[in-house]
Amino acid sequence: MQKTLPIHFAPLQGYTDVIYRNAHAACFGGIDAYYTPFVRLEKGTFRHRDVRGIEPGNNQVPHLIPQLIAPTAEKAEKILSLFIEKGYKEADINMGCPFPILAKRHNGSGILPYPEEVQALLSLITKYPQISFSIKMRLGWENPEECLKLAPIINELPLRQVVMHPRLGKQQYKGEVDLKAFEAFQHVCKHPLIYNGDINHIEDIHRIQEQFPGLAGMMIGRGLLANPALAWEYQQNRTLEFDEMKEKIQSMHTYVYEEYIEQLKGGDLQILNKMKAFWEYLLPNADRKLLKAIHKSTNLHKYTQAVHAFFNQR
Ligand SMILES: Cc1cc2nc3c(=O)[nH]c(=O)nc-3n(C[C@H](O)[C@H](O)[C@H](O)COP(=O)(O)O)c2cc1C
Repeated sequence: MQKTLPIHFAPLQGYTDVIYRNAHAACFGGIDAYYTPFVRLEKGTFRHRDVRGIEPGNNQVPHLIPQLIAPTAEKAEKILSLFIEKGYKEADINMGCPFPILAKRHNGSGILPYPEEVQALLSLITKYPQISFSIKMRLGWENPEECLKLAPIINELPLRQVVMHPRLGKQQYKGEVDLKAFEAFQHVCKHPLIYNGDINHIEDIHRIQEQFPGLAGMMIGRGLLANPALAWEYQQNRTLEFDEMKEKIQSMHTYVYEEYIEQLKGGDLQILNKMKAFWEYLLPNADRKLLKAIHKSTNLHKYTQAVHAFFNQR
């Protein structure tokens, strides 16, 4: 019998914002830690939504870890100061983001080919011993040797954990995850290691757990957007019945919708776009026609009609 691993909800910019996270925790749960999408400096300052997203008063999940992205320790420190000011004792450093605009400037996975820059960025960790740090990374930007070269630097640091998404930055999200390269990294990584990538079903969790004994946990992103019950089902070792699932999705939807209406007062198009993002990955095997009507709705009236039809399908 395998032991049950902690499940971490991956940060997904544009999807797992504070409202989504609160709704997920209230309606589904099963998650050990939620992560904020990365906070970054834009022209030397913070984006409002990033600050709102980490504000403790807005967050109701049991365990939230804020994430930062920066190419240098100096920039990272500015963001970390905000986390500390807000009372956080943990922080995650993003070395995995593949977005070309950021990666080009050696943010996220764009820094992985440059061990000296990685070392300089991560010097932040020893400067703030009161903060428990983790890093979230990929195998490399260009080739999977990069993470092996970085291992000695990473191993030296007092990290709580390393999350590895076994793809290359240049792949974005295309192609298969490289489990051989993950195994090679697991051999050299001395920190608790968390696997992340393409976990969509409970069987995937068991398969990875079996293939890589000794993992400290799993991080799941799009699989949880598609099936918000996935972590709970794994923890409880039972899948939700259709009606239970529908009821929970419906209450999560109501939660998210009402919060966006409250937050984005009157900005109907903005609310509509946020709600379409909510449905983007959700329940990919549901009735196509009903989902299409939601995705195609052009105003909130049509949207609520389409959602009503979805939840009242027989
Ligand atoms: C739309 C989108 C936004 C993402 N935003 C972030 C982010 O803000 N921080 C981060 O570390 N990873 C981010 N990721 C990567 C995910 O956290 C995760 O590593 C990746 O999706 C692979 O896991 P999955 O297959 O379980 O989704 C993002 C991925 C997607 C698709």
